[in-house]
Amino acid sequence: MRVATTTDGPLDTQADTIAVGVFQGEGIAHDPPGQPLEALLGSGEAGEEAGRLAVTHHEGRRLILVGLGDRDRFDGEQARIAAGSATARALELRTRRLCWEVPHHVDDAIVAGLVEGTLLRAYRFQRFKGDADSADPRMEELVLSAHHDVGPAASEATLLATAQNRVRDLGNRPANDLPPRALADYATELARAHGLEATILDEAEIVELGMGAFAAVSQGSAEPAKLIRLDYDGSGGRAPLTALIGKAVTFDTGGLWLKPKMDMHEMKFDMLGGAAVLEAVVTLADLRAPVRVIGLVGATENMISGHATRPGDIVTALDGTTIEINNTDAEGRLVLADCITYARREGAQRLIDIATLTGGVVAALGNVYAGVMSNDDQLATLIEGAGRRSGENVWRLPLHQRYAEMVKGRYAQITNMPMPRVALAISAAELLHHFAGDVPWAHLDIAGTAYDVRSPYVADKGATGWGMRLLVEAARTLTA
Ligand code: BES
Ligand code: MN
Ligand code: ZN
Repeated sequence: MRVATTTDGPLDTQADTIAVGVFQGEGIAHDPPGQPLEALLGSGEAGEEAGRLAVTHHEGRRLILVGLGDRDRFDGEQARIAAGSATARALELRTRRLCWEVPHHVDDAIVAGLVEGTLLRAYRFQRFKGDADSADPRMEELVLSAHHDVGPAASEATLLATAQNRVRDLGNRPANDLPPRALADYATELARAHGLEATILDEAEIVELGMGAFAAVSQGSAEPAKLIRLDYDGSGGRAPLTALIGKAVTFDTGGLWLKPKMDMHEMKFDMLGGAAVLEAVVTLADLRAPVRVIGLVGATENMISGHATRPGDIVTALDGTTIEINNTDAEGRLVLADCITYARREGAQRLIDIATLTGGVVAALGNVYAGVMSNDDQLATLIEGAGRRSGENVWRLPLHQRYAEMVKGRYAQITNMPMPRVALAISAAELLHHFAGDVPWAHLDIAGTAYDVRSPYVADKGATGWGMRLLVEAARTLTA
């Protein structure tokens, strides 16, 4: 979808549908001749309360009147929600060109929210639907009409929402279409298209380096693992190095600790942390953020075969730690552990990892909040702030020495199957904490929020692209 901005009034654009917001107690700012919007409010069909929405017409164009609620409470997230519901209606109305009349006196966060809510709600995964479905009329253009120039805010939001939709595309692609080597090829192309370079370490190099934990996950698969690395420096070497680290298990069968068959197909989504990292790094580059970032994505399948890891196997991680793999389904932490060590060796001063890591976080927080666990209060606070701005809720869960004891191994130094079987999101984090040490580190567990979420503007079933915008918001502030 094209996104344009103008200081012309909505009626002077080519839009076939115009969305107009109305705040509580403020009434209609601009009504077309004949006052159709006033009439809609007057009849009670439309309302100023957030969530109300009604349609009328003016000279062959559709007008959608959207209640925005209290101006004081209207922020970027409320704007995404309002734009999402307006878009849902516009799509039903077969809108091709939508114009949003930007409410008076709103800040850039709200302008951005209108763009993001629209682009995210209009997303569809069409790759395998064939011509019949793709011929469906789609929305072609979004125009923002405002009294002042909203161009910069709108183009930034377009970058972010488009990147988030690319994360969704990656997640929705099935595992046969997106094995690790395809993700690596995608990353190479993506980097090139955004003026960066991707470095791909293949499985032989992963083994050669001594990433015994990562390699153990991959060894049962016919598809070779890839460690994908993206570097971006917009600071001329001055900013501290931030590592963004993502789990990209392109399919997680559970290994010999085989998952139940009913929902196993969902495990194609087990790469969404990694996808968020790839798109976040190129978006930081698009934004020319004055930061220094290394993106690391551990891409592998977790399969069964005669080569697969057996429960009880002991491997040596990149930093020398020995790990007993008692549960082959706790594979994400093995991949991340070696990526974290790699990032530390590259000199990362902050580590942020993101992964569909545990069913435990789904039990604790459902699909409304992702879990964040951190050894650093400042970094945790920074992530919470980024999530508030991006509309991606994060809730901090505690770490504690007594949780760390749950990952002590019986035959090796640590185990990937914490005991007792409680606090599973936290004990997974404690395993990662072992490798992060005292480098400021935050871990985002997105198992509940990465796919199949009923949200007002990411309403499509499938991948949500959760966390990509949060990573950008967080990383772009790490300039010192
Ligand atoms: N990819 C899963 C976590 C997951 C669960 C993601 C549900 C999305 C939805 C992960 O690899 C896994 O299997 N974790 C296990 C760990 C356990 C064996 C300690 C889990 O959470 O059950
Ligand atoms: Mn697993
Ligand atoms: Zn997994």
